[in-house]
Amino acid sequence: MATLKLNDGNRIPALGLGIWQVPAEETARIVGTALGLGYELIDGAAIYGNEEGLGAGLRASGLPRERVFVTTKVWNDRQGHDETLRAFDESVARLGLEPDLLLIHWPCPAKGLYLDTWRAMIRLRDEGRVKSIGVSNFMGDHLERLIGETGVTPVLNQIELHPGLQQADLRALHDRLGIVTQSWTPLGQGAAFDSAPVQAVVARSGKTPAQVILRWHLQLGCSVIPRSTHAGRLAQNLDVTDFSLTPEEMTAMATLDAGTRTGPDPRDFG
Ligand SMILES: NC(=O)c1ccc[n+]([C@@H]2O[C@H](COP(=O)([O-])OP(=O)(O)OC[C@H]3O[C@@H](n4cnc5c(N)ncnc54)[C@H](OP(=O)(O)O)[C@@H]3O)[C@@H](O)[C@H]2O)c1
Repeated sequence: MATLKLNDGNRIPALGLGIWQVPAEETARIVGTALGLGYELIDGAAIYGNEEGLGAGLRASGLPRERVFVTTKVWNDRQGHDETLRAFDESVARLGLEPDLLLIHWPCPAKGLYLDTWRAMIRLRDEGRVKSIGVSNFMGDHLERLIGETGVTPVLNQIELHPGLQQADLRALHDRLGIVTQSWTPLGQGAAFDSAPVQAVVARSGKTPAQVILRWHLQLGCSVIPRSTHAGRLAQNLDVTDFSLTPEEMTAMATLDAGTRTGPDPRDFG
């Protein structure tokens, strides 16, 4: 799997498995299946309730720790300097390992704590407890404040991004700031599967709508973390490197942008 370079010198696999809503008791098995298929990135979070399964699946795979990139996130009710340090220790205990990447899950601007949270994460990184630190669901003004106040640029911003919400302005800002864009809910709940731009690539390439959309993310330069609990789809979602969308097909995909969120608005969530 191709990797993307982070602004701290580390690298992240371009495609990985997301485990939101994967039942805790099935997580170790599904993570194990994914790792067996060749996945090298697992996107977890404390709030998903399955960090134990993530760590257990990795250990059971027998893969060396350094072969798998593990992300976890600080949930909204654990923001603040000292609380973040405690939440991190609890995540490490549940995972049974130190993650590669720690994210602030949501900015929660009304709480006014994301700067303190970020300062704790800088400390964790400087102590070598986590390799890289980043954010999720941050908008441009949150990013600029974070960087302006601390001088430390997140390596990555994980945001809702799919054909119906293409986030061109935020992606352009990320490019200017040296931040990797990572797409959550990349399949957009299947809303674009039957659209003309997707179906045209399906007809030409013989790939599935999900594969076309995942390939589109990669060609936008994003990291992408689709979820599936089925081995066949896990394999399918990884099998997106032997074809590409033409420039004309990428232009046609851009017409699907409707600015429609499936999730909360980061300005007033949390
Ligand atoms: N930072 C955040 O705030 C945030 C928010 C949401 C999500 N995320 C992260 O992003 C990850 C992905 O987002 P998501 O889980 O919401 O959605 P997603 O990956 O876009 O879609 C998952 C859904 O698509 C189905 N699916 C997967 N592969 C498919 C295929 N090849 N063909 C047809 N259907 C397919 C899955 O069903 P089956 O399981 O039945 O295959 C599941 O219902 C999450 O797991 C999580 O790690 C982060």
